Amino acid sequence: MRKNIVAGNWKMNNDLAQTEELITELKNQTKTSNAEVMIAPTFTNLWHSFESLRQDDIEVVAQNMHFAENGAYTGEISASMLKSIGIKTVILGHSERRAYFNETDESLAKKVDAALAHKMRTIFCFGEELADRKAGNEEAVVGGQIKNALFHLGADAFKSIVLAYEPVWAIGTGETASPEQAQDMHAFIRKTLADKYGKDVADTVSILYGGSVKPANAQEIFSKPDVDGGLIGGAALNAEDFYAIVNAF
Ligand code: 13P
Repeated sequence: MRKNIVAGNWKMNNDLAQTEELITELKNQTKTSNAEVMIAPTFTNLWHSFESLRQDDIEVVAQNMHFAENGAYTGEISASMLKSIGIKTVILGHSERRAYFNETDESLAKKVDAALAHKMRTIFCFGEELADRKAGNEEAVVGGQIKNALFHLGADAFKSIVLAYEPVWAIGTGETASPEQAQDMHAFIRKTLADKYGKDVADTVSILYGGSVKPANAQEIFSKPDVDGGLIGGAALNAEDFYAIVNAF
């Protein structure tokens, strides 16, 4: 059985004091669902967050990392650095990384390899832009992103990979994919995996939806059979809203 996961991507939000405050509020929430819960604070707050949540049922994950082990990559963070402070999961390929920091399918393939080499779990993000969807190219774009960055991997790697479909036009816009649009794309993603690795592998990979998930729409989106959770931006910055989404399962 695949896992249900709700992950909060804090993006470039919350300094140390704000991080402490939000973590305190998160600890006061009650989880009534079976979903795995994760938060992704900024690099500077990862260690503190990890220490604060050691005893809690919330995994602290990173928003990005570099593919190299170490060396002359000013400003970058490696997998072993993350591992050394207890981080076991990393988000890779977020559309903001692709759009503003020139991340490509090729560089992401290397990052995924580095995460796997360090036995880290990857939440691998992808999604089409509005122009792609208007042109009816959303499946071609998403299929290409998955194939280019992941299809060099063996089937076993998918035990450590979570997929996150985030249509760019729905991120931070208040416009969400309809539950049907999300389900159609998630079913396509699972079929793409099944065609390459077989149905047994495809059925075990969790596929999250991201893009303006809120307490008001989470339940309907999560009720779809191929939607196994959410990657949450704005609503993850409010503890009550985030747990309303966690408990939407
Ligand atoms: P919003 O929930 O703010 O639309 O962001 C989604 C996202 O990018 C999560 O990674």
